[in-house]
Amino acid sequence: MDIKKESVLIMDFGGQYSQLIARRVRECSVYCELRSYKITAAEIKEAGYMGIIFSGGPNSTYEENAPKCDPAIFRLGIPILGICYGAQLMAQSLGGKVEKSDSREYGKTEVECNTSSLIFHAAKAKSVTWMSHTDYISKVPHGFKITAISESCPVAAMEDIKNKYFALQFHPEVNHTEQGMLFLRNFLYNACGCTAEWKMSSFVSSTIEQLKEKIGSKKVLCALSGGVDSSVAALLVHKAVGKQLTCIFVDHGLLRKDEGDEVENVFRKQFDMNLIRVNAQERFLTKLEGVSDPETKRKIIGEEFIRVFEDEAKKLGKIEYLCQGTIYPDVVESGAGEAAVIKSHHNVGGLPEDVGFEGIIEPLRDLFKDEVRQAGLELGIPEFLVWRQPFPGPGLAIRIMGDITEEKLEILKDADAILREEIAASGLARSVGQYFAVLTGIKSVGVMGDGRTYDNTIAIRAVTTTDFMTADWARLPYDVLEKISSRIINEVRSVNRVVYDITSKPPATIEWE
Ligand code: XMP
Repeated sequence: MDIKKESVLIMDFGGQYSQLIARRVRECSVYCELRSYKITAAEIKEAGYMGIIFSGGPNSTYEENAPKCDPAIFRLGIPILGICYGAQLMAQSLGGKVEKSDSREYGKTEVECNTSSLIFHAAKAKSVTWMSHTDYISKVPHGFKITAISESCPVAAMEDIKNKYFALQFHPEVNHTEQGMLFLRNFLYNACGCTAEWKMSSFVSSTIEQLKEKIGSKKVLCALSGGVDSSVAALLVHKAVGKQLTCIFVDHGLLRKDEGDEVENVFRKQFDMNLIRVNAQERFLTKLEGVSDPETKRKIIGEEFIRVFEDEAKKLGKIEYLCQGTIYPDVVESGAGEAAVIKSHHNVGGLPEDVGFEGIIEPLRDLFKDEVRQAGLELGIPEFLVWRQPFPGPGLAIRIMGDITEEKLEILKDADAILREEIAASGLARSVGQYFAVLTGIKSVGVMGDGRTYDNTIAIRAVTTTDFMTADWARLPYDVLEKISSRIINEVRSVNRVVYDITSKPPATIEWE
């Protein structure tokens, strides 16, 4: 089955929720693509989309340089749903009027809708929606009728049922809009005729088939980090071409306790993959000797990673393809949606371009993170790997303040392992976005038994976040913190104090360096 057969286009006008719209559409089991608003009608026709959604955006439609769509899109005969800015753009493009209001309508807003409208089919007439706009549609275009109103918005929704054009002033994609998913489903299933066939299992099987065809008898190389993206990408390729894939796992020695062995076990023993583990701890530690500046550490690790990878790759002779775990949010540039940005693997400094590959293979380019996880589970990757919290490429090097030594690494690994065990035992692992220990570089006085100590301070960092751009410090229960603290003091040598970081981001960052 061609899973992309039924595909919907989301045109990105720079709204903050564009990616969220895409996720919601996928949650309705409909495949979709987020593209720049600059896409032409000819490109849309060629791609065969069954529906189009105009996203929101920060501009006013009547501004001179406001983003507009190719007007020929309205002649394609494809159903269109405009959201917020997209609704206003639809109104203005088709002969209606958009004006600036004296006040901004923002937040939860009750809307009354006409339930005989296709979009509001089976909905409650009155419900809460999420509004965020100053401009409003003051006149609907010819052929449209108003299908919803709010107290301060005369056109909360409108439709031209003949052409299947629908416009919502509010955001159906955010959770605050009570019936938002119903409205989206009505558009996707009833207006566009999509049949909800996008399933992870079909994605996995069809991707494997496509990879088999593309790769043929050629060879593929992959830099495996043990993170979920590179693991799933590699496994898809492995399922397609088996031992034609070689994975290089550079263990820089800055991984968490036992992590290197876990990665090796899963991929070599469970999946019988061609895995080369390069134990390069000494190489990295030598390069990092005496270096305290965080950015210098990152740079050294990134560069050294490339060197090690290149050295190994050269030993393997000619390899045609490089496999990367690029995922959809890495590809899509929000806003103007100009050039697609290929993940530069900022965590490892970027892979070498001159190794001489014929092409790049990125099987996860169309997936969001949670979909990558689903694919991972579908492929049988163990849950601990699939649900692994993000881990920075430079690893523990940016969690040790000051220079890095083997001894400091051991202390931090042990403390961090205890923290992870206790978070897992408390059942909080999935609700806390990221948690780790930091070796602060501070020594302080303590007393143990009858003796005075002068030893290291470990900081515990735990945050809740959805996007890692902002984060709140996690309100870990005191008894969990107490257990973590006492275990670290008792079980990790050279630590006599544990502190909890109660700073949010901003102003702090999640990592300490
Ligand atoms: P910050 O500290 O900037 O972290 O609030 C946000 C997220 O990014 C991760 N992070 C990195 N990831 N290389 C990476 O691959 C890095 O140099 C790096 N620095 C931070 C961090 O773990 C968090 O998830």
